[in-house]
Amino acid sequence: MNYIGSKFSLIDFLKQSITDTLIQNNEIRTPNKMVFADLFAGTGIVSGSFKSMGYSIIANDIQYYSYIISKHMIENNGNLNKERSDYLIEKLNNIEGIEGFIYNNYSFEGTIGQEFRRMYFSAENAKKCDAIRSEIEKWKQSNYIKENEYYFLLGSLINSIDKYANTASVYGAYLKKLKKSAQKTMVLSALPIMIGEVDCKVYNKDISHLIKEVSGDILYLDPPYNARQYCANYHILETIAKNDNPIIRGKTGLRDYNEQKSVFCIKNKVEKAFENLIKSAKFKYIFLSYNNEGLMKLDTIKNIMCKYGKYSVYTQEYRRFKADNERINKADSTLEYLHCLVKFSNG
Ligand SMILES: C[S@@+](CC[C@H](N)C(=O)[O-])C[C@H]1O[C@@H](n2cnc3c(N)ncnc32)[C@H](O)[C@@H]1O
Repeated sequence: MNYIGSKFSLIDFLKQSITDTLIQNNEIRTPNKMVFADLFAGTGIVSGSFKSMGYSIIANDIQYYSYIISKHMIENNGNLNKERSDYLIEKLNNIEGIEGFIYNNYSFEGTIGQEFRRMYFSAENAKKCDAIRSEIEKWKQSNYIKENEYYFLLGSLINSIDKYANTASVYGAYLKKLKKSAQKTMVLSALPIMIGEVDCKVYNKDISHLIKEVSGDILYLDPPYNARQYCANYHILETIAKNDNPIIRGKTGLRDYNEQKSVFCIKNKVEKAFENLIKSAKFKYIFLSYNNEGLMKLDTIKNIMCKYGKYSVYTQEYRRFKADNERINKADSTLEYLHCLVKFSNG
């Protein structure tokens, strides 16, 4: 998924820096004896990679679409039958489209006669998405599929439909003409099934609450860096995940997202929220990903972290996330930081 702040291209840097920190601190436990928490999980790419290394994972995100994807990627531990999973995906790929919530609100044909004509998906893909979403729910309610299969199928739908969205990248706006990828017929592709022997748990909570309930060894923090709220930028994925036919408003058909607004996107609130996390965290090793253009200045982060233990930092140049329409103007790279803290035992 093309996700704001995705760490897909930084995985090797993160793994190397985290492993180096553990070695420097004479950590002798092997990954399978340690708990790794990724509490701003997004696409789940970081937790997934550490799961493959053998760590037990705690993953979390305030967005429900992210929770669904992580429920599959993180909690499904080889307990899915590959042949049956392929069969279910094929069955869903062959069903007839229906005119449901996505078609009626987010396709040009479906919004005829409405105040706003929206073009987030082709009519064909919107109908296909509606039909697949509705079938997955029916299968769950009739016990035709098990819970782990539900997360696998729904996560696969969220991940697939995103590739056919008629946007520059996020759902804050749609393009006026259907772009090439949006004209293609959506193919539902299966998310990978990650085999692991480890215990994993996924949450869908505000981290400021969850941090008091969980504990472990390594805490990885990857909060939003700027004022762009994920709830507004991925509102349609949230609606597909929740299947709750919300009241929507305005040109872009936004659902109400007051409950999911993140303090980490608010300039005058982020520092306090960040310090509270560090203070409350019951983890020995804490890592924070942040870049040089974020709401919190580097010195602020350093000063906060230094209060609670031994601080260090790794840096890496990084190609910035850009929407299609930003590709020409913005500078190509930013500096990505991984701030590390080995917490005092009483810190
Ligand atoms: C930078 S992204 C994480 C990207 C992720 N590491 C990846 O590689 O895909 C930040 C994530 O934090 C989530 N988030 C923002 N505020 C949150 C909060 N208060 N509690 C939990 N999750 C939050 C957002 O929904 C978003 O998915």
